[in-house]
Amino acid sequence: MSVTGRRVAGRALRAFNDRHPWSHNDHFHPWIVSRLPRRRRAALDVGCGQGGLAAVLSPHFDEVVGVDADPQMRRDAARRCADLANVTIVDLSLEHLGTGRAPDGRPAPPRAFDLVTMVAVLHHLDAADALTQVRRLLAPGGRLLVVGLAPPATVRDHAWDLASAVTNPVIGLIRHPRPSTAGPPVDPFPVAEPTMPFDELRALVETMLPGARMRRRLGFRHTIEWQVPG
Ligand SMILES: C[S@@+](CC[C@H](N)C(=O)[O-])C[C@H]1O[C@@H](n2cnc3c(N)ncnc32)[C@H](O)[C@@H]1O
Repeated sequence: MSVTGRRVAGRALRAFNDRHPWSHNDHFHPWIVSRLPRRRRAALDVGCGQGGLAAVLSPHFDEVVGVDADPQMRRDAARRCADLANVTIVDLSLEHLGTGRAPDGRPAPPRAFDLVTMVAVLHHLDAADALTQVRRLLAPGGRLLVVGLAPPATVRDHAWDLASAVTNPVIGLIRHPRPSTAGPPVDPFPVAEPTMPFDELRALVETMLPGARMRRRLGFRHTIEWQVPG
């Protein structure tokens, strides 16, 4: 398809999405819940946004920590999880969590997590740095679950994007059958365009997380699943 054709198709798809909206990120929460590690003391949701996943993880773990770089997101997440005694939303970077100390010297939450999640976040970060920190933060047997985005670069990527574009309205109709009259929704959180194509990210993941499973998914997403040996 030509660039103009792709733009027109993209606009039509967005217009349809506005009328039958669904969250491409929340859509993967059941996948995450179906992949939880056996030991469930502490979970960390990196880039927790408005705290939806932290709330979903709350009944499954002794403790859930959400971090986000954006103060408004942290406020929204704290409000969303206010009734969940085992959820804390903190202002700490992955690096500070990895060293177990906040920037001002305060002690940080537990450094060993049984689960680290990142939904639509890895492309906001330097992927190699982030994966290095995550490796430090995971307890033996701990699990990393990522839902990510990548720009299409290969024929295969484009084929998956096409499949996502075709199935997207169907999912929208199932999830939100009555057309919304609210107009185009404003993104509730900071967004960034992904720049690292799937194959490049996979090469990095294979080097840094041996044995990780990375799969393309519908919904313009991929998933990464890795368990620390032991
Ligand atoms: C596209 S949103 C996804 C939010 C949430 N995970 C969800 O699924 O709804 C990306 C989030 O990553 C956060 N973020 C960006 N850079 C970050 C960083 N360096 N550390 C922590 N969070 C970050 C943004 O503030 C934003 O809330």
